[in-house]
Amino acid sequence: MNQGNSPDREPLFIGDATSLDLEGTQPADYDVPVVGASFADGVALSQPGSTARVNVLPSETRTDRNVIAELPGKNRDNVVMAGAHLDSVIEGPGINDNGSGSAALLETALAMANLRPENTLRFAWWAGEEQGLLGSAAYVEGLPAAELDRIALYMNYDMVGSPNHIFMVYDADQSTFPAPEGVPIPEGSTAIEDVYESFYTAIGQPYDDTEFSGRSDYEAFILAGIPSSGLFTGAEEIKTEEQAAIWGGTAGDAFDPCYHQACDTIANLDLFALDVNSDLIAFAMLTFAYSTESVNG
Ligand code: PHE
Ligand code: ZN
Ligand code: ZN
Ligand code: ZN
Repeated sequence: MNQGNSPDREPLFIGDATSLDLEGTQPADYDVPVVGASFADGVALSQPGSTARVNVLPSETRTDRNVIAELPGKNRDNVVMAGAHLDSVIEGPGINDNGSGSAALLETALAMANLRPENTLRFAWWAGEEQGLLGSAAYVEGLPAAELDRIALYMNYDMVGSPNHIFMVYDADQSTFPAPEGVPIPEGSTAIEDVYESFYTAIGQPYDDTEFSGRSDYEAFILAGIPSSGLFTGAEEIKTEEQAAIWGGTAGDAFDPCYHQACDTIANLDLFALDVNSDLIAFAMLTFAYSTESVNG
């Protein structure tokens, strides 16, 4: 096979600087026809009809790990789980997404380390969320049915301190999950949602529902039928006038204007939102540490 000028596959399409599809391409230098102009920062890099040399590097395989910590309760067969993804995108440090959820969960775990609760508490810091929920999916898929049965519920914390935040709770009452074939939201999820909402009500903070979209680590748990909910303060979506009237902040800006960018630094946190949600993450864990009856009957 000639790996040089005429690759043994469809010609690569160069439409703009980012639309080159290299999946399945062998590592080599390729001369490829430029079909559309390509631009970087408004400067034309290549013209249609010209040829571009593309250097495809070997792909890499890496091992990544979830971090799981468990506090044994009196009952080892009733496990209350909470998780936050520990990875970030490569474009930035990922402090709101998801240093916020990771740090808040770590605080809760440390604060509870000397308890001997009724139920067993399991904390998860997921790997590879940004590559497609890899860590949480592998974890759930790797559990035998008897182990899945021991998990009473799952709580997800991904982006809980957004700079232009609103307080949101995953909504168990949406009829189905938009994942394969409209899987129903597991019964019992509403009781987790209720704990979050009663806390916000008790401290006088407004909240809204948000849909399970399949964009975070709760997905595998819902697909496995485990009651789930979680907190979220918003990503790339734009805050409306109505939302700004309720929560403050800036209408017309994203909830997190630095979402998946280099500017997702420590300055990209709303410390009030992070503080409220850190308390709530601990409150929910402590509530279910003593009983999951509202969820599992
Ligand atoms: N999971 C998304 C991310 O890490 C963030 C997100 C969470 C978006 C929940 C929508 C809903 O980038
Ligand atoms: Zn992200
Ligand atoms: Zn995230
Ligand atoms: Zn709700």
